[in-house]
Amino acid sequence: MAAAPTVDICFVGSGVVNFGGTENPWNHSIRLEKLGGIRVVAIIDPLTDKADEILQEKLAGSSSHLYKGCKVYGDIATALKENNNIKAAFIGVPPIHHGSFSEGNDVELQLLNGGINLFVEKPVSVIPPEQFNEYVSAVTKTAADKDCVVSVGYMFRYHPAIIRIKEEIKKYGRPLVALNARYSCTCSNLKKVFWWNAALSGGPIIEQATHFCDLVRYIGGEVELDSVKGYNVPFSANPTDTGFLTSIPKVVLDADIPEDKMAPCATQCVWRFKNGGIGTLTHTLLLHDHQYETGIDMWCDGLYISLLNPYLPQCTLKIRKSGSIEESVETFPGVDTYFEEISAFMRAVSSKSEYGLIRSTYEDAAKTYELSWAIRRATTQQK
Ligand SMILES: NC(=O)c1ccc[n+]([C@@H]2O[C@H](COP(=O)([O-])OP(=O)(O)OC[C@H]3O[C@@H](n4cnc5c(N)ncnc54)[C@H](O)[C@@H]3O)[C@@H](O)[C@H]2O)c1
Repeated sequence: MAAAPTVDICFVGSGVVNFGGTENPWNHSIRLEKLGGIRVVAIIDPLTDKADEILQEKLAGSSSHLYKGCKVYGDIATALKENNNIKAAFIGVPPIHHGSFSEGNDVELQLLNGGINLFVEKPVSVIPPEQFNEYVSAVTKTAADKDCVVSVGYMFRYHPAIIRIKEEIKKYGRPLVALNARYSCTCSNLKKVFWWNAALSGGPIIEQATHFCDLVRYIGGEVELDSVKGYNVPFSANPTDTGFLTSIPKVVLDADIPEDKMAPCATQCVWRFKNGGIGTLTHTLLLHDHQYETGIDMWCDGLYISLLNPYLPQCTLKIRKSGSIEESVETFPGVDTYFEEISAFMRAVSSKSEYGLIRSTYEDAAKTYELSWAIRRATTQQK
């Protein structure tokens, strides 16, 4: 059998999501190396020295053959001028730098116009959704005109626990009545200054809890955006206030982010689903050390499902069904949802017949983006 053709790819952004960090599971390049069938021809980042350091590390590593001939570029236009065979791009840049028509930030359109399939990291933008919708239309149209796919990095949609939850609720045949999502992040080692500044990141719901806003929609269906209500505990620099955090990284404190732009310590909201059910989300920035705690509880008439820690290898799913007080407990050892989402994307890039493998399209991700904005507006002064 003939080997599948090698696909030329590029990375846009030489940061942690594309190339990994010290403690987190994300790192698209190592999944692509494991998958094979690729040739990395460009790493694009205005911080060219940083990108070059990454490239040199790759050239010295065990997958160096996949990076032979790869060059670092400071901008997309130059990279595309020198490489006319790029088939896929992995966009991992801070949200303020993509997802809008403003100069240089139309990253998706620049690449799609070159006929390049896109894997775009969440959040898809940082501008208000009313403005973003026009950009979504342009991206969708250009992708269709160029026959390209756009996949957004909501990796939990590929997690077997999530697939199982959806199947279980469908099989049970009763509507979801209530859902309670919790996302507890650690503040002490979150050293990305842009992340803490809502003007740059959108805030922790848009930037981070977006993964769970997406699962809320994926599992529970659409939310009545007007029904979203909630509160937050704003950050405070005053040690006697509830919103004072004792363990913020020094680099963040030194950045002097205006207090009203700082990520809130806690956000809690409630809403009604279009199907009549209700949901809540709690996001906190209160844990110390490095491990997140996340989970979702779901109830139908006679069915209770509890998902715990989908980020971690020790993720568990508990299901209690009508007719028994016993809970079944499932675990998912060895699951790598980042690998699953990237494999699905690369299969779609290689064959149009596989477009259906993409579980998070750009238009769909725009709806998650709208929900995250509705929560931000309902819980903060940041409108
Ligand atoms: N799905 C996930 O689990 C997950 C995990 C981590 C990060 N992310 C997302 O990925 C995105 C990037 O995060 P990160 O942690 O890699 O950030 P990072 O700060 O580590 O890296 C971002 C890089 O993008 C570069 N950049 C900025 N503008 C650019 C442009 N116009 N063209 C090319 N490069 C540009 C920066 O110089 C920087 O090197 C964020 O939106 C984040 O939310 C998703």
